[in-house]
Amino acid sequence: MRNKTTYACQSCGHQTARWMGRCPGCGEWNSLVEETTVVQQKPARGIAGGGPVPVTEITTAEEERYSTGLAELNRVLGGGLVSGSLVLVGGDPGIGKSTLLLQAASAMAGSAGKVLYVSGEESVRQIKMRAERTGALHPELLLMAETDMAVVEKVIKETAPLAVILDSIQTVYHPDVASAPGSVSQVRECTGLLMRLAKGKGIPVFVVGHVTKEGTLAGPRVLEHMVDTVLYFEGDRHQTYRILRTVKNRFGSTNELGIFEMRGAGLAEVTNPSELFLNQREQPVAGSTVVPSLEGTRPLLVEIQALVCPSGFGAPRRMTSGVDYNRVALIMAVLERRVGLRLSAHEAYVSAVGGVKLDEPAADLAIALAVASSFKETPVQDRLVLAGEVGLTGEIRTVAGMDKRLQEAAKLGFKRCIGPPVDKQAAALGIIEYIGVQSLQEAVEAAIGR
Ligand code: TYD
Ligand code: MG
Repeated sequence: MRNKTTYACQSCGHQTARWMGRCPGCGEWNSLVEETTVVQQKPARGIAGGGPVPVTEITTAEEERYSTGLAELNRVLGGGLVSGSLVLVGGDPGIGKSTLLLQAASAMAGSAGKVLYVSGEESVRQIKMRAERTGALHPELLLMAETDMAVVEKVIKETAPLAVILDSIQTVYHPDVASAPGSVSQVRECTGLLMRLAKGKGIPVFVVGHVTKEGTLAGPRVLEHMVDTVLYFEGDRHQTYRILRTVKNRFGSTNELGIFEMRGAGLAEVTNPSELFLNQREQPVAGSTVVPSLEGTRPLLVEIQALVCPSGFGAPRRMTSGVDYNRVALIMAVLERRVGLRLSAHEAYVSAVGGVKLDEPAADLAIALAVASSFKETPVQDRLVLAGEVGLTGEIRTVAGMDKRLQEAAKLGFKRCIGPPVDKQAAALGIIEYIGVQSLQEAVEAAIGR
C-alpha cells in the first residue's frame, strides 16, 4: 500500500494531479480539495470477473424482491426491493428520509427478519424515540450509531441482516481514506464498500444522502452513478405531503411516484392522491386549471394556478413553482404570438398546487389556459381538465396514456376534457365529454370564450 495525493472536485468528483482554481470537469471555481487516498495494490473486485460467456448460457432466476411493507415505497422501487441492490434515498434535511426508512426497516423486520439500521446522525436513543412515535418497534430491528465504515462492514458480516439502512452517506468515513466525511473520496470509498457488500452477500442496502440547495446530492454526483436506484423524497416542508420519486432504477421504470402524508405518528401512505392536489371550490375562479398528469403509471390530477398582472418598470417578473420556468416562458411567448394576448408587459406567477413537481409536456395546455384565464380575468369552464403539449406554432400535440388520464378525471367528477384533436382512446372511452382542438387559439376559445 502507498499513499497518493490527488485533488478532487467536491462537486463533480473530477480528479487532478495538481491544484487548479477551476475544475476542468464541471467548471466550478474553488472546488478542488486535496485528498489523500491509500492506493490498494489489488483493486477490490466489484460484480465483474469470470470472462465472456454466451448470453444464452447465463442462468437467471426472476430477481428476488422483498416487500418493504410500504406499498408506495414498493411502487417506486419497481415492485419491491431487489435483493443485492443499493438504493439511494436523497432529499432535503428534515423532509422525512430517516422516518421513511425506519418505518420500512421495522416493517421488513416484522415480515422478513433481521434488519440493521446504522445511523451516523442520531444516537440509538433518539432513533428509539422516533420508533416509538411511529410504532416501529420490533425485536428484529437492530439499531447502531456508528460512523466508521470498517466497523459497519464487520457488523454486517457478523450479523448477516436481511437488509441494511445507512443514514447518511455524508456522515460516515472509511479509516483508509484521509479526507473528511462527505468528501468525494470518502463517499466513493464508502459507497463502493456498500456496493460490494450488497452484491457479494445479496443484501439490499438503503443509503440516505442529503441534497444541497441547488437540488443536487451534496458533494458528488459519483454517488448517483454507483448505486442501482436513486429515489428523491421531496415536498414542501411546511405542508404535510411528501412525494417519493424514482430518478434512476436499474430494476424498474423511472417516473414512478409514491405519495405519503407526514402525520404526528410518522408517514402514512396516500393511496388515492388526486384529491390532494386539487382545491375544492364552489365557484370556478380565474387563473386556475386542472391537468390530469401521468407520472409513471399513475394518473394524478393537479391544479395549476396563475396570476398575471400589469408590471411597473423594467422587465416583468416571472416566477414558477412546481412547473418548469423555461416551459412557462415558452408557453407565454406562444400565447402572445399565436393567440394575441399582450403578456409581455405583465408579471406572471405560475404554480402547481400542493408541492408537486410537474415536468411532463402534457401539462402545457393547463399552464397556458391558467395564464390566459388570469389575463382575461375569466374562469375556464367548470369541471374541465386540460391535457396536451403546446408546440411553437401553437399546435396541440398528442400525449400518451389519455385513457388513464380521463378515467381518473371522470372518477373525480370532471365532466369534460380539452386535448389534442385526434385521440382515439378518448373517443372510445365515452366516459367524459372530449373536445379535440388543433391549436392553442381554439383551446382558449373552447375553455374561456373569446
Ligand atoms: P426526518 O425523518 O428526521 O427527516 P430527514 O431524515 O429527511 O432529515 O423527519 C423530520 C421531520 O418530520 C421533523 O421535522 C419532524 C417530522 N415528523 C413528524 O411530523 N412526525 C413524525 O412522526 C416524525 C418521526 C417526524
Ligand atoms: Mg435524518
